[in-house]
Amino acid sequence: MSLAFTLAAPPDELAVEAGRRLFAGPVEFVKGVTRMEGLPPADRIEVCFAGRSNVGKSSLINALAGRRALARASNTPGRTQEINFFALGPARYLVDLPGYGYAEAPVAVVAQWQALLKSYLAGRATLRRAFVLIDLRHGVKAVDEEIMTLLDRSAVTFQVVMTKADKVNRATREGSIARSIAALRKHPAAFPEIVVTSSEKGEGIETLRALIATLE
Ligand code: GTP
Ligand code: MG
Repeated sequence: MSLAFTLAAPPDELAVEAGRRLFAGPVEFVKGVTRMEGLPPADRIEVCFAGRSNVGKSSLINALAGRRALARASNTPGRTQEINFFALGPARYLVDLPGYGYAEAPVAVVAQWQALLKSYLAGRATLRRAFVLIDLRHGVKAVDEEIMTLLDRSAVTFQVVMTKADKVNRATREGSIARSIAALRKHPAAFPEIVVTSSEKGEGIETLRALIATLE
C-alpha cells in the first residue's frame, strides 16, 4: 500500500464549527501524573501531544484552548515534567506530555519521565491519536524516529504537527515539510496528513481544533 502524505486539507465548515464550539467550552486542568497508576480512569477519548523538549507542546495546548497559561510553557527545555490531563468538555482529554530528547534536568529524573512517557504511549487504551510535534527549524530527529517506531509497534495512530511556522521563511518551511513527509513513509501508524502550526500567530489552530472535534 502506498499512502500519499500531504498537508491536511482545510476542514469543511461543519468541522470548523464543531471545533470552534468544542474549544469555546470549558477546558480544565484535571491532574498531573508521575506514575501509570495515577492515570485518570480511561473513560473517554484522549489525544496527546508528544515531541522533543521545547518543540511547543504546552504552547499548542494553550493556543487551542485560547488561554495564555493553561499549560505551563517556558523557554527552559524540560518544563513539563508530568503527564498533564486537561478535560475538554465532558467527553475528551487533552494530554500534555513531558518532552523527550534534551532537557535541563538531572539524568535520573529525565530517565523516569521517559519511562513513564513510553509506558503511556504504548499502553493507553483510550488514546485515539498522538500528535507528534516537529519543529520546522529542526525536522525529524533520531529521537522522534524512536517515538514513531514505538507508536507503530503499539498501533497508536500518530499525526505530525509542524510547529513554530512564524519562525521560518518559505524555503525552510517547504524543505522541512518535504523531509518530514519522506520520514513518515516508513511508519505504518502515521496518519497521512500533516498540519503546520504557529501557536504564536494562530496558523493551523482552527484545523487542529476541527480535527480533534471530529475524532470518535
Ligand atoms: P517541554 O515541556 O519542556 O517539553 O516543552 P514544550 O514542548 O511544552 O514547549 P513550550 O510550549 O514550553 O515552548 C517552548 C518555547 O517555544 C517557549 O519559549 C514558547 O514560547 C516557544 N514557542 C512555542 N510555540 C511557538 C510558536 O508557534 N512560535 C514561536 N515563535 N515560539 C513558540
Ligand atoms: Mg511543555
